[in-house]
Amino acid sequence: MELKKYIESNSKRFLDELLDLLRIPSVSADPAYKKDVFKAAEFVKASLEAAGVDYAEICSTAGYPIVYGEKIIDPAAPTVLVYGHYDVQPADPLDLWDSPPFEPVIKKTSSHPNGAIFARGSADDKGQFYMHVKAFESMLASGQLNCNVKFMIEGEEEVGSENLDIFVRDNQEKLKADVVLISDTSMISLEHPSVTVGLRGLAYMQVEVTGPKMDLHSGTFGGGVANPINVLCKMISSLHDENNHITIPGFYDNVEEYGKEYRQQLNKAPFDEGEYKKKLDINETYGEKGYTTIERVGIRPTLDVNGIWGGYIGEGAKTVLPSKANAKISMRLVPNQDHKAIAKLFEEHFKSIAPPAVKVKVVPHHGGQAAVIPTDSIGYKAAEAAIDEAFGKKAIPTREGGSIPITALFQQVLGLDPILLGFGLDTDAIHSPNEHYGVDNYFKGIETIALFFKHYHRLSNKD
Ligand code: BES
Ligand code: MN
Ligand code: MN
Repeated sequence: MELKKYIESNSKRFLDELLDLLRIPSVSADPAYKKDVFKAAEFVKASLEAAGVDYAEICSTAGYPIVYGEKIIDPAAPTVLVYGHYDVQPADPLDLWDSPPFEPVIKKTSSHPNGAIFARGSADDKGQFYMHVKAFESMLASGQLNCNVKFMIEGEEEVGSENLDIFVRDNQEKLKADVVLISDTSMISLEHPSVTVGLRGLAYMQVEVTGPKMDLHSGTFGGGVANPINVLCKMISSLHDENNHITIPGFYDNVEEYGKEYRQQLNKAPFDEGEYKKKLDINETYGEKGYTTIERVGIRPTLDVNGIWGGYIGEGAKTVLPSKANAKISMRLVPNQDHKAIAKLFEEHFKSIAPPAVKVKVVPHHGGQAAVIPTDSIGYKAAEAAIDEAFGKKAIPTREGGSIPITALFQQVLGLDPILLGFGLDTDAIHSPNEHYGVDNYFKGIETIALFFKHYHRLSNKD
């Protein structure tokens, strides 16, 4: 049977299986879901087996397991290594969901007139990696699989992929491939298909500012003792200047400045600032002076407070001068900024700006390096050809603001440039309440992935 026909005639099952996977609350950050994360790994293994791999296994790690599976059709044929993650972000705040996060429902939206699947993990990344399982099944069943396939689906991406790092370093022979294929990013839209050619890195810090050793009466002591929340706010606001440049000394030292031509090229991507503002319900965009929105999120580093707490936040008013104030601060990084070096710069600077009246603690969380993907490789050309055939459009290369730290690791350890062929939309609300993934995106993704294999085989001329 023709591949497209196979996908069509199995579409209901392809969707139902994904909905079953979405019902498993595999939240890696919260130990309360430990059983479910393991259950999701079992589900992935069984789905690979059902799709037709030679074998699949659950590889234990110090944390959550990595599911590995492979189909070797011919040792001389090119090998595609598929990476994805079966863990998801926590679903809270739960009260902001229109339907329960782990009870998927399909509803129409303005961006998805043919319906979208609402569930935590639908776009990030279950709905996206599952396309690969179904594309593989479809190619195999329709007699069109012409590349070897290796699947590596992990369960700790949302908490920093620490154990995957070790796994990749220890299993280079097993993971040997010609190209890595990842669907865990966005595209501009189904009308403007794009391929991601850059991801930002990440340095994530937690800070604690301590004033007096206990909470105090804000009348008795207020004015005479440093209030750690006031101080923390002052310190945080000093981290940007009036042009929204980051003030940490040395922060921009290795940042690559792009020429006019590249920036012009980047800004040619379809982007409607009015639409962007409307979708987010903001009056104005905001960011580093001298850069467009596309540049601010794609090629410029940032510093953002992700959460801040301390003092009294209950009902009514309690007069208190708190002992402690805390914040979680992340920096998105660009190529050549080393996340460990930046974390150090942050720590030194943050401690140096603290007034002697408080004590400051800085704890780094996970981080990762940025990545840029060359566009002259066989893999990139295969992605272009697949998009051309599936959409009848030329793929637009985009630089995305999110981070997949494992991308740089693949480049460094395996010497492979991953192809970031994602089908989510920026409006899919990943990491947010009401996350969803377009039904059309799911099926178009399956088709495009299968075409990627076809063109990768053709272009690599390997067997
Ligand atoms: N899939 C996302 C990354 C992403 C999202 C890339 C949208 C491009 C567009 C991934 O699951 C993720 O959330 N990564 C984290 C970093 C990780 C170390 C926790 C991120 O970007 O915050
Ligand atoms: Mn993801
Ligand atoms: Mn994510």
